[in-house]
Amino acid sequence: MAKIVGGITTSHIPSIGNAMANHLQQDDYWKPLFDGYGPVKEWLEEVKPDIAIIVYNDHGLNFFLDTVPTFAMGCAREYYNDDEGWGIPTLAPVQGDEEFSWHVVQKLIESEFDMTICQEMKVDHGFMVPMNLMWGDKETWPVKGIPLAVNTVQHPLPSALRCFKLGKALKTAIESYPEDAKVVLIGTGGLSHQLQGERAGIINPDFDIETMDKIVNDPEWLTRFSNAEIMEHAGTEGIEVIMWLVMRGALTDNVKLIHKHYHAPVSNTGAGILVLENDE
Ligand code: DHB
Ligand code: FE
Repeated sequence: MAKIVGGITTSHIPSIGNAMANHLQQDDYWKPLFDGYGPVKEWLEEVKPDIAIIVYNDHGLNFFLDTVPTFAMGCAREYYNDDEGWGIPTLAPVQGDEEFSWHVVQKLIESEFDMTICQEMKVDHGFMVPMNLMWGDKETWPVKGIPLAVNTVQHPLPSALRCFKLGKALKTAIESYPEDAKVVLIGTGGLSHQLQGERAGIINPDFDIETMDKIVNDPEWLTRFSNAEIMEHAGTEGIEVIMWLVMRGALTDNVKLIHKHYHAPVSNTGAGILVLENDE
């Protein structure tokens, strides 16, 4: 049977991709961020997941504003990366697992989450920067990757509560897969940032730090916020944090905190890292 081995959260800031491409991890600006990934990599080395479900938002590469699914799941054999305009080098395609994806999507739809099914899907920085952060820049990735895209771009967006419930349905879907597989969930994006408009540049470390604590210990806290309230605290793109709730909903009610790291600013964003394990 498939088993959920844990959950990770990470920002997917495109300039992190460029920093990795230019080997700037020890640079004064970047070191405080990259130091936070050491324990994540050690944990991944130890646990060695077979499949990573990466919960991310497409930023206009695969879906444009004319057609944006609320929730979409990759069911392809492999996923090609491309750069939608940040100048990040293109990385090698990531192998998927069609059988696993079709099982999960079938179970999600039976649970009334009407996923858009993507048999072809290009993945942008929202997916690839986390892959690169977790596993380095590989010709052959040591893990299969499954994209789960959430609309955090074109309003109306799904609510924080809906994302949390999707995570719960995802848990049931994964745990009913009959083949053995160790599955890690990666919730990407956030924390506070706003890239345009009057409040462009706002970062709210107090809200970020409280959010991280609650994601671990009381994830329902964030489900009580409306999207407008989250954006008031965390900026318009800070709404990406709702994707962390998909990951968190798929874990047990109580979790073990393995690692936590926060650094701001990174580019325009408060960058939060968590590694969580199920507490049986
Ligand atoms: C930045 C953050 C994002 O989440 C993103 O998608 C693009 C840019 C930033 O902070 O620069
Ligand atoms: Fe983003």
